[in-house]
Amino acid sequence: MMHYLKLIPLLELPENTHKSVRAGEKKYALFHYDGKVTALDHACLHKGGDIGQGFIQTLDDGERYVACPWHGWQYSLKDGRAPHGYLDRQAVYDVKIEEGMILVSSEPVQERFLAEHQDDRLADLKNLDYRTNATSLNVLGISTTNMNPSLPRPSTSETALQNALDFAASEFGAATKLIKIRDLSFRHCEGYYSRHEEACTWPCSISEMDPEDGMTDVYRSLVLWADAVILATPIRWGNASSLYYKMAERLNTVQNQITIHDKVLVRNKAAAFIITGGQDNVQGVAGQLNSFFTDLGFTLPPFNFIGWSRGWIAEDTENNYSRFSRSRYVKRSVKELVTNLLKLVMQIKHMDASMLQAPKPKISEAGSLTEQYGEFSGKS
Ligand code: FES
Repeated sequence: MMHYLKLIPLLELPENTHKSVRAGEKKYALFHYDGKVTALDHACLHKGGDIGQGFIQTLDDGERYVACPWHGWQYSLKDGRAPHGYLDRQAVYDVKIEEGMILVSSEPVQERFLAEHQDDRLADLKNLDYRTNATSLNVLGISTTNMNPSLPRPSTSETALQNALDFAASEFGAATKLIKIRDLSFRHCEGYYSRHEEACTWPCSISEMDPEDGMTDVYRSLVLWADAVILATPIRWGNASSLYYKMAERLNTVQNQITIHDKVLVRNKAAAFIITGGQDNVQGVAGQLNSFFTDLGFTLPPFNFIGWSRGWIAEDTENNYSRFSRSRYVKRSVKELVTNLLKLVMQIKHMDASMLQAPKPKISEAGSLTEQYGEFSGKS
């Protein structure tokens, strides 16, 4: 005989509302729509988001679905099924209303089912199929300058980057790849981490949702393929370019694996930077890039950035590129930057990176905040 648990008075779940309710070990997502109360398991089949806090949507089939608040997986309120085309099913519990109370069955009347998603475009990222090996020397260039493709202009940062890649290939026999961030179409980071730390996933949930996500190429190239990365940026208002920041925020998914799972995805890789601007703040930009890339797990060689700037009053921008391309300093420093980077990489490739620790805040230590700051009383 089916055992039922008494949850809450029906009055606490008025028509057109939903919420999650805990009963012992279990948590149920309750929905009261179209004159009926239904109960699903609260934990989304994707990554465990609480669907009792989700959004109600009516789809083309005329049925109401709840969309998970983390990344939007949908389940029918009626029978827990995912929309047409998907085989996933959320667990469904039987509901009875007795003496104004909502009762749910302790066991599901329909078990949860997570279908195998055949077209796993991101399997290599999920499985961390690294393309590096003991002898590879893969150098990834990332250009973060922006320009109108139909009105191209010379870019100091991108020219220096191309020269660096050419030197890496000719002098060290490196395999090189250049990614121009402006050529990629991708969404801004949507901040799922702010809803719940586990909602920032690897691979990135935006890449999972969007088959056209341009960041997938960056993840593959930077995490799986590269031994060394050279990033080039112009200085814009004293900072790296906005395209750099757009990309960097989407790399939260890499850094966050350390915080959540103590898992360092970037190992045995080194990074160097090319920073150019009509006006100055090379060192400030280098500081930001250095701290971010070490937070991802990159090793930095000595003297790991080069800069080009003609100073505060150099507003004759039409002369900037010609001065840059004639500069003996630029020609020399690009080569030296690449040499430092690749000499370091050849050594750190053989390091046992698993012995290294990531002394970063970890979610597993969050409980100790209470010890550090005391109980939160709710009073100010
Ligand atoms: S956890 Fe529900 S959609 Fe990702």
